[in-house]
Amino acid sequence: MARKVMVTGACSKLGRAVVQLLEMQADTEVVALGRDELDILDEVLVDSTVERLQPATIINCAGFNDVEAAEHRLATKLPVNTRGLCNLARTAAKFRVYLCSFSSKYVFNGKNSEPYDEDDDKWPLNQYGNSKHAGEEMVNDQLDNYLIVRSDLLYGGGGDDWVSRIKEELGAGRPLAVSNDFFIAPTYVGDLAAAMVALSTEWAAGIYHYTNDAGNGVSCYEFARAVAEQAGLDSSLLQATPMTEVDFGGPLNLPERAILSLDRFKKMFPALVRPWQEALASYMG
Ligand SMILES: NC(=O)c1ccc[n+]([C@@H]2O[C@H](COP(=O)([O-])OP(=O)(O)OC[C@H]3O[C@@H](n4cnc5c(N)ncnc54)[C@H](OP(=O)(O)O)[C@@H]3O)[C@@H](O)[C@H]2O)c1
Repeated sequence: MARKVMVTGACSKLGRAVVQLLEMQADTEVVALGRDELDILDEVLVDSTVERLQPATIINCAGFNDVEAAEHRLATKLPVNTRGLCNLARTAAKFRVYLCSFSSKYVFNGKNSEPYDEDDDKWPLNQYGNSKHAGEEMVNDQLDNYLIVRSDLLYGGGGDDWVSRIKEELGAGRPLAVSNDFFIAPTYVGDLAAAMVALSTEWAAGIYHYTNDAGNGVSCYEFARAVAEQAGLDSSLLQATPMTEVDFGGPLNLPERAILSLDRFKKMFPALVRPWQEALASYMG
């Protein structure tokens, strides 16, 4: 019998990529629900939808992840990361469904010199990080059987992302200030979706980290230079700038070097880990 997977937030970048991959699996029936079909903040609707569809698995791709906006203007959008996820967890517990969701490196404070393991101490520095940490706790409080995959800055999947912003600014000949002391493991959205599908197909439980492999991290400046070079744009327009001088629309604490260790994931799916340069080249190619 086909495994039924219900995807929430199915119109997000990750949601679209996850649905596309699941639809290629022969033994999987996919029910893709965008916000219009299922607002995960609606507790009653979450319950009745799961009761009606009876999925074996829920993969939640809904969320709010604009770190700057969450800090300064749009904190009201954060409950999707907490109350929304909590609604899914409560319903998953009630109907014994395997719940999978995404979290973020922003649960860490970025002060470690080495990549973070899944069980390292959480210490979020901003509203977004707090919301992702709280969401994780809510899931853990209500479920034994769940999967959370933490990741880093994503690009690809359409819409407005960091790669398209760099291309747009440099393409228009405008200088762009990019921090040279904020370190990331930039990750292609399709690779993260593949990691989630692989883990969830194996019913992996607990927390996993997945990013493209960036060792101990690359600076945003270094990443932006790679984008510029691969797009044939003038990288001299990039201005290496300390984080403290970048305009975030107000004060914003960021985890300077919150790089996620891939060791746990690599033990299961070594072939799905690739260097960030290779992922970027195949995306830009
Ligand atoms: N993007 C990143 O760099 C990144 C990095 C690490 C982890 N993540 C995590 O990955 C997940 C998905 O990220 P993404 O970048 O793919 O998201 P995205 O493209 O920004 O889309 C977010 C989606 O969530 C939907 N949504 C918001 N509130 C909802 C609600 N109450 N009920 C149902 N759907 C709702 C939105 O619908 P509307 O458009 O209709 O509002 C939108 O389709 C999030 O948990 C995020 O925290 C993202």
